Amino acid sequence: MAANRSEIEYLQLDEQQSFVQKVQAYLADKSTRAAYVHSYGCQANVAEGEKIKGVLSQLGFGFTENIEEADLILLNTCAVREGAEDRVFGNVGALKHNKRRNPELIIGLCGCMMQQKSVVERLRRSFPHVDLVFGTNAIHRLPQMLYGCLTQGRVIEKPEDEIDTTVVEEIPTRRDNTLKAWLPIMYGCDNFCSYCIVPYVRGRERSRSPQRVLEEAKRIVEGGAKEITLLGQNVNSYGKGLSEEERINFSELLRRINDIPGDFRIRFMTSHPKDCTKELIDTIAECEKVAPFLHLPVQSGSDRVLDVMNRRYTAEHYLSLIDYARERIPGVAFSSDIIVGFPGESEQDFEKTMELIRKVRYSNLFTFIYSPRGGTKAAEMEDPVPAKEKSRWFQSMLKEQEQIVRDLHEEMVGTVHRVLVEDDNGPAENGSHKLAGRTGSNVLTELYGSPDLVGNFVTVKITKAYNRSVDAEMI
Ligand code: 5AD
Ligand code: SF4
Repeated sequence: MAANRSEIEYLQLDEQQSFVQKVQAYLADKSTRAAYVHSYGCQANVAEGEKIKGVLSQLGFGFTENIEEADLILLNTCAVREGAEDRVFGNVGALKHNKRRNPELIIGLCGCMMQQKSVVERLRRSFPHVDLVFGTNAIHRLPQMLYGCLTQGRVIEKPEDEIDTTVVEEIPTRRDNTLKAWLPIMYGCDNFCSYCIVPYVRGRERSRSPQRVLEEAKRIVEGGAKEITLLGQNVNSYGKGLSEEERINFSELLRRINDIPGDFRIRFMTSHPKDCTKELIDTIAECEKVAPFLHLPVQSGSDRVLDVMNRRYTAEHYLSLIDYARERIPGVAFSSDIIVGFPGESEQDFEKTMELIRKVRYSNLFTFIYSPRGGTKAAEMEDPVPAKEKSRWFQSMLKEQEQIVRDLHEEMVGTVHRVLVEDDNGPAENGSHKLAGRTGSNVLTELYGSPDLVGNFVTVKITKAYNRSVDAEMI
């Protein structure tokens, strides 16, 4: 198969680079330089927020965590559920006062929400204090858009019907965390689960070339990071659309990253169960740097609901993957996303999801009440279950899950784990420091030790279990 994707390097975009110089020159004699960037939603968004900061840094901006002292505010939005959208509108509304206090302030919105026509129309009409709007594949044009804002006023990009799927490489990245790095390996999604807006706002699936991914992974490790999380809406279909010469599958990509010298840990998300293979599970088992952890969103335990969701697997198939992973990967842990109250879901369907949860015993569960998204198939479906009932199901699921996690933590007591120490939570009474980190299976672990251990792997024995974490001592 020939390559059906195109790629370009940010630094080769001559027009943008000329705007970089123009913005730099414009800002040189101004004091307006502090940017506040906030990303809502998933890790893909957070990773894109880090690219936005990279470009802003190149343009001469500094950064502030305090929105009140910012000269540029950029909200990187999420469209997956209505609640996330409401929050953004609320926050943008409140920024009217900031603009009144500081008319020079630039307020910008980007990300998934800006890919919806109705949202952009509403912003254009009812939020005149918003200066800049752009969608999910436009970060590389930020120099030009910002120059327009600084010199002419409002720049509101139209949401494209067909999202440009050119992969733009080497956009500068300013990572928030030097220890744990996000590494996107692909963008977009082709799956069209019937409830999900992502394929509409992020466009068709495209993979980065393995060489680019490997080079970036090497740079991340050389820069001192101890954990890399590979990101994609469905990492299991990595490689689709690459040219024959460079095409490899996700398992092979994992193996090649695992071969990079250095002591670091590899995580990845998200895996779609329909594309999760035994080969992938074997690869996790065989690669010592790949964490024994699988985020495998099931969404529902009812085959009927899974079918209407267009998930293309059954609960039985899903459980067979879990069994195989348990067999092959010692100490493996699972996490999942679950939607409660999908249109037409019955109490029996919900019970099937509860049964599945009890069988898998997830160490972490991301649970969502179904939220209709305009333009998706599910938004057209009849939804007779009252919100109150959905909420009751949701609560009972949370309760069950809390108990499962507590039990899993109790079962860890006495076992030995390798923990990446991430935080120093300050001096403790016994003269050492209270430190916190995570096991390969992603359990939050607290221990005492020297603050110098932050950024290192330590071997610990678990001593005590809590609902949200465990205590451990170094051995
Ligand atoms: N309503 C509720 N949850 C949703 N998700 C995606 N779309 C919706 C929706 N319309 C959840 C899914 C997905 C996660 C990222 O968000 O569980 O895996
Ligand atoms: Fe949405 Fe399904 Fe794609 Fe995940 S796989 S982003 S849930 S359409």
